[in-house]
Amino acid sequence: MAKRTIVKMPGDGIGKVVLDETIRVLDAAGFEADYVEGDIGWEFWCKEGNPLPDRTIKLIEEHKIGLFGAITSKPKDAAFNELAPELKEKGLVYSSPIVGLRQHFGLDICMRPCRTYKGNPLNFIRRGPNNTIEEPEVDVVIFRQNTEGLYGGVEWSNPPDQVYEALMTHPKFKKNFEWCPKEELSVSTRIFTRKYTERILRAAFEHAKKYGYKSVTVCEKPNVIRETSGMMYKLAQEIQKKDYPGIALWNTNIDAQMMWLTKNPEDYGVIVAGNMFGDIVSDGFAGLIGGLGFACSAQFNPESGIGVFEPTHGSAPKYADYETSIVNPIAMVESACMMLDFINENKVAEKIRKAVAEVVAEGKVRTYDMMKMAGRPDVVEKGAASTQQMADAIIAKL
Ligand code: NAI
Ligand code: MG
Repeated sequence: MAKRTIVKMPGDGIGKVVLDETIRVLDAAGFEADYVEGDIGWEFWCKEGNPLPDRTIKLIEEHKIGLFGAITSKPKDAAFNELAPELKEKGLVYSSPIVGLRQHFGLDICMRPCRTYKGNPLNFIRRGPNNTIEEPEVDVVIFRQNTEGLYGGVEWSNPPDQVYEALMTHPKFKKNFEWCPKEELSVSTRIFTRKYTERILRAAFEHAKKYGYKSVTVCEKPNVIRETSGMMYKLAQEIQKKDYPGIALWNTNIDAQMMWLTKNPEDYGVIVAGNMFGDIVSDGFAGLIGGLGFACSAQFNPESGIGVFEPTHGSAPKYADYETSIVNPIAMVESACMMLDFINENKVAEKIRKAVAEVVAEGKVRTYDMMKMAGRPDVVEKGAASTQQMADAIIAKL
């Protein structure tokens, strides 16, 4: 079989380190691939005025699979000030290259698994009856609609007349907001389409079926946000009834779900939500299994087969210049395992996951976050593993 080509996009800051270490792990696990480097991130914004150059888009179009580290984004003023002088007059506006990738390739399915590793000192614990301590085993996969909803970008401040007039046709707008001068009005829309709502739901049910999860939970707010959340839940009921009668369908409200998170996280299996609530609930669950050093994600388009795999964390600029890198590479390694699953290299993925699980369970090699230290340059002297040492430990278990 021909070797795969993977587009590796280190991005900024610690993105570069965790990606390099992850590729070492992939090599050691026997995954044979060629890597081409895709430019992305702050450096390219500053130098070229575009954090997502067309050449990178072309590489992904050609090879379909991207492994992505993390990027740095900065506020408007900094974005302007750090632009190369010759670009400053061009009226360029910074926009996130990750959102750019999602939109360009229609990566509408975002998947974020949150699984407890036994022996991880960061695992959530709670009090049980008679003052006992319980450590629930979380095994949840969040399916987040990735392209629509509140992050769809359809928004205005001081909306154009046509938009304002259209809003005024809604009795509730007229009643509750007519008092507000148009110039003082900001509107962000929450658009759900039937096509993509159905797609995220089907992806969630299909995953539950394939991996034996007993339930799919729609985590929205259909009692209040009746049109969009309501549509998602109604479609979920239809899909479940018709095609997945063996899988239970649960319905939780995002606010209550966040409260229940610490009460019974072990009861949930697959969770599906729109863009923003999916973002919230996945961060909530990630907190129970070790936080940013462990949170991984996949985003893909099931039609084109294009997928980008990345840890949830950012570029952590304050750690980027440490002579010895201290950050935890596991989130990136786990993201690479999701890539392997996606391209049907499940055996390699399982091998790596098993190695990670062994390292965590053994507890001899732990990065600073796992030791609950503040992230300072001297953590390695104090007994924490460096990024490289953690990767070495995983490789040793392979
Ligand atoms: P961050 O995720 O980069 O870092 C927050 C804190 O989490 C760090 O200071 C560190 O204490 C911890 N942390 C992050 N990754 C870790 C790891 N692998 N191991 C151990 N500890 C880890 O978020 P922050 O500081 O809010 O943003 C920094 C930059 O990253 C910003 O420019 C932001 O825009 C960008 N960002 C990029 C994302 C992406 O590329 N997907 C996501 C989030 C933020
Ligand atoms: Mg987030």
